[in-house]
Amino acid sequence: MNILILGGGGREHALAWAVMQNPKCDKLIVAPGNAGIAMIAECASLDILDGGAVVQFAEANAIDFVIVGPEAPLAAGVADDLRDAGFSVFGPSKEAARLEASKRFTKEICDAAGAPTAAWARFDAAEPAKAYLREQGAPIVVKADGLAAGKGVIVAETLDQALEAVDDMFGGEFGAAGAEVVIEEFMEGEEASFFVLCDGEVALPIGTAQDHKRVGEGDTGPNTGGMGAYSPAPVLTDEIAARALDEIVRPTLREMAARGTPYQGVLYAGLMIRDGAPRLVEYNVRFGDPECQVLMMRLGAQVLDLMHAAAEGRLDEARVNWADDHAMTVVMAAEGYPGAYEKGSEIRGLCDIAEDSFRMVFHAGTADSDGRIVASGGRVLSVTARGATLAEAAENAYGNVARIDWPQGFFRRDIGWRALERDEG
Ligand code: AMP
Ligand code: GLY
Repeated sequence: MNILILGGGGREHALAWAVMQNPKCDKLIVAPGNAGIAMIAECASLDILDGGAVVQFAEANAIDFVIVGPEAPLAAGVADDLRDAGFSVFGPSKEAARLEASKRFTKEICDAAGAPTAAWARFDAAEPAKAYLREQGAPIVVKADGLAAGKGVIVAETLDQALEAVDDMFGGEFGAAGAEVVIEEFMEGEEASFFVLCDGEVALPIGTAQDHKRVGEGDTGPNTGGMGAYSPAPVLTDEIAARALDEIVRPTLREMAARGTPYQGVLYAGLMIRDGAPRLVEYNVRFGDPECQVLMMRLGAQVLDLMHAAAEGRLDEARVNWADDHAMTVVMAAEGYPGAYEKGSEIRGLCDIAEDSFRMVFHAGTADSDGRIVASGGRVLSVTARGATLAEAAENAYGNVARIDWPQGFFRRDIGWRALERDEG
C-alpha cells in the first residue's frame, strides 16, 4: 500500500513510525511532515487544508490510503473530497467532524443519545448568557462553540471570571468560534482520555491515556497542547471503560448513523470520572497529541491494519493485541511556550539516542537546517518510552530526555505523578 499521512507534529511522527513497521506499507509520504519524520519517510510540502490539492497530490503519487492526523483538514472536509475522488481515508466527514468543531453540536448529540455529560445551555448574545451565569453561580465553564486551538474553554472559579469570559467571547477574542457560547455545569472528578476506532457502526477501543495540559509542574500555569502523557490511564478501569463504551460512545455512533452522518475514524472521548461513573467532557475527532505517541508505542504496526479496517467498514473482524505494558511521553518545549518563543535553536545529542520499539524521540516541531536539527515550534520533541510499569516507562523516557542537549528547551519533571502516586499508595 502507498500511504499518505496528513500533518506534521509529534502525533504524525508516531503514526508514521507505527505504519512504517507494517509490511503492508510499501511507500509512506507525510505532508508536510517535519525533520524527524523525514528520517523515516518522504515528506512533501502541501496545503493540507486544500481538498483539491490533496486529491491531486494523492492521484499523482498513486496513494492507496490516506490517514488524516489533525482536526483542521477534517473540519474543512478534506476527507470528503478524498473519498469522493475514490480514495480510502481514515478520518471522519466534515459533518461528523462537528463532534469536535462545534461544542453545541456535541451537546445536542449527547442529549439525543442519552449520553451522560454536563448540563448546558447555549447563547448567541452576551446579556442572556450573563443572566444565566448569575442564576447558576460559579464554578462554571464557558466555552466558545467553534474550534479555538484548545483555548476557547474557560473553567471559571468565580462568577466574575465567567462574566468576563462571556464578554471576551462575544467581543471577538476567539473570532467566529466565539459567535456562539456554550455554558456548562462544572464537573468534578479525574479526567482521562478514551480512544475508540469507529467504522460508522462498530466501535473498537484501542487504549486509554492521560495528559498534562498545564505548562507547569504540579499541573499549574497556563494551558498548553499537552506537556506529556501516559497510557494506560489507571483511573479508566476496564469496568469504567466498558461503561463509557456502552453509555457514551456507542449511543453517539448510533445517533450519528441515524442522522445519515456515520462516524468513521478515531473518536477521542475526554471523560470526567467520579465515583466510578464516566461523563463526557468533549469529543475530538483525531488522536490526541501527545496521547497518540504513547498509544502508538504500545500498539505498534498493527495500527495500520486497524485504521484501514475502520476506513473500509471491516472493524467487526478486527482484533487488538494489547501490549500489557505502560508508555510515557515527555514533551520538550521551547522556552516561553505557550507564550512567545524563539525558533531556530539547535538541538544536539539526538543521534546518540538508541531508538527501538521501546524508546523513540518523536519530533513535534523541528526542522533541518544544513544538517542540524533546530526547533521550529512551541512543542518540539516528544520523548517516549515503554516499560513493564509506569515507573519504568518514566525512567526510560526521562533517561533519554537527559541525553538531549538543548539549553533553550524545557520540560516538566513530573509527568505521570498522579498515576505514580496511585501505584505507590
Ligand atoms: P475541552 O476543550 O472541552 O476539553 O475543555 C478543556 C478542558 O477544560 C478539559 O480538558 C477540562 O479540563 C476542562 N473542562 C471542560 N469542560 C468542563 C466541565 N464541564 N467541567 C469541568 N471541567 C471542564
Ligand atoms: N493533548 C490534547 C489534545 O490533543 O487535544
